[in-house]
Amino acid sequence: MEIKKNRVYKLKTNAAEGNTGVDLQPESSEWVEQVRNLSMEYTRQTGKTRKFKIDVFGCQMNERDSETIAGMLTDMGYEEVPQDAFADIIVFVTCCVRENAEERVYGHIGALSKECEEKGAMIVACGCMMQQPHVVEKIKKSYRNVKIVFGTHNVHTFPELLYRYLTQRKRVFEIWDKADRIIEDLPVKRTEKHKAWVNIILGCNNFCSYCIVPHVRGRERSRSMEDVLAEIRALAQDGCKEITLLGQNVNSYGNDLGEKDLFARLLYAIEEIPGIERVRFMTSHPKDLSDSLIDAMAHCKKVCHHLHLPFQAGSDRILEKMNRKYTKEHYLNLVEKIKAAVPDMALTTDIIVGFPGETQEDFEETLDVVRKVGFDAAFMFIYSPRKGTPAAKLEQTTPSEVISQRFKALVDLQTEIGTELAKKTEGQILEVLVDGPSKQNPEMLSGRTRTNRLVNFKAEGQVEKGDLVDVEIVRAGAFWLEGRGGKKRG
Ligand code: 5AD
Ligand code: SF4
Repeated sequence: MEIKKNRVYKLKTNAAEGNTGVDLQPESSEWVEQVRNLSMEYTRQTGKTRKFKIDVFGCQMNERDSETIAGMLTDMGYEEVPQDAFADIIVFVTCCVRENAEERVYGHIGALSKECEEKGAMIVACGCMMQQPHVVEKIKKSYRNVKIVFGTHNVHTFPELLYRYLTQRKRVFEIWDKADRIIEDLPVKRTEKHKAWVNIILGCNNFCSYCIVPHVRGRERSRSMEDVLAEIRALAQDGCKEITLLGQNVNSYGNDLGEKDLFARLLYAIEEIPGIERVRFMTSHPKDLSDSLIDAMAHCKKVCHHLHLPFQAGSDRILEKMNRKYTKEHYLNLVEKIKAAVPDMALTTDIIVGFPGETQEDFEETLDVVRKVGFDAAFMFIYSPRKGTPAAKLEQTTPSEVISQRFKALVDLQTEIGTELAKKTEGQILEVLVDGPSKQNPEMLSGRTRTNRLVNFKAEGQVEKGDLVDVEIVRAGAFWLEGRGGKKRG
C-alpha cells in the first residue's frame, strides 16, 4: 500500500473571522506517517494488517466525514473491513439530530463491549453527538471501550490522537468547541467512484429553534469556489459522473466570503467540467432560494431536476415558533415559481410533526401543503426535544398518542400522493445512473433517475455500475420503480 508521504493538509482562513490562517499542517501529515510506522511495525511482528470499520449515522455530511476518516486510516496503514467483528478499530460517526439517533449509537457501542474486551478492539467516537459535553461525560463514565473521542471541528487531528493512544494507551478526549478554518486536502477514501459528495459550505447560521445542528457544526464557512472546482475536476478525471454538493443550507454558499449569488455561479462553472453528467445539491432553505438559483436550475443541463426543499410545518404560527423565517404562502409561491421555470422538477421535503403546541388546525395546514405541492418523497419526523435548543424549553401540550396518530395520517397521505406521482412514470423511458445490484431483488440492477427516483431493472447486454442507461418503466410503487431494457447510452 502506498502512502502519500508529503501530503500537506491546507488550513484555509475563514474571511469572516479574520483569522491569520497560520499553516500548522505539516505536523498533521507527520502524525499520519508516525502511525503508519507503528502499523508497519505491527505487521512485521504479527504478519497481520490492522483493520478498521466505520459505522455512520445521520446525514450526508457524516457520510462525507466518514470518507475522510477512512482516507486517513488507509494512509495510516489500516485496511477497511465490512464487519465490526473483524476490526481492530471501530469508528462511530454519530448524529444527534433526534433522540433515537443517539440511542442507537449508545446501543451499538454497548453491544460491542464484550467484543472489545475479548479481542482488544477499540472504539473511536466522533461526529455531532461528541460536540455535546453531557454526551462526552456519559461516554467517559459508562462506555470504557471508547478510547478516542473527537468532535466535528477537529476531524483532521485524528492521526495525532490515534498516535497518542497507541503509544500511551490512555483514553484521549479532544473536542474543539469552534472551527474558524476549513481544512483542505485531507485524505479521502470515496465509497463510490461514479458518484461523490462534495462539501461546499460547513455549519449553519439559521438556528431553527428545534435544531441542534448549528450548536454542533458551528457557523457557516464556505469553501472557496476554486477549491470546490478543483476537487470536482479531479473527481471527473477519476471517472466520477455525478456529484452532490453538500451544505446545511447551500443557498448561503459564499455569503461569509462576501460574495452574492455564488451558488448559482458555481452551478454554471460546473457545467464546464467534462465528464460530470449530473449535479445535485442539498439542502436548500426556502427563505434563501433565489431567483438566480431557479434560473441556474432551468439553464444548467447537468443540474438534475430534483430539489430537496424542507418545509417542516404548514402553519405560520408553528413556522414562527420554529424560527424558519418564511410563511406557508411564501413556500407555496416559491414552489409555483420553481414549477413554472422547471415543469418536471421533482420536489422532496422534510416535515416535523408534533412541535410543542401544535394544534389539530396547525397540523391540517401541514397536510394542506403536502396536498398542494405533491412531493415525490418526504422525510417525516416526530419532534424530538434536543437539549440546548430553544424549543426544548417549550412545554409539550399534545399527548404522544395524538402525535402518533397525526404522524400516521401524514405518512399515509404522502404515500398515497407519492404513489400517484410515481404511476405517472409508467411507460416512460428514463435515464438511470447504475449503482449496482438491487437491494430489493439481487437479480436486478438498481440506480437513480435524474429526479432521484430509485429504479430496479433487468439490463440488456453488458451494463455495470457507473453506466448511464435508458430504462423503460413498467411498474411504479411509492418507493421504487421497476424497469426493463436498460441499455447503455451511446
Ligand atoms: N426533531 C425532529 N426532527 C428534527 N429535524 C431536525 N431537528 C429535529 C428535531 N429536534 C429534522 C428536520 C431537518 C431534518 C434533517 O431533521 O426536518 O430538516
Ligand atoms: Fe437545522 Fe435549520 Fe440549520 Fe437546517 S437550516 S441545519 S434545520 S438550523
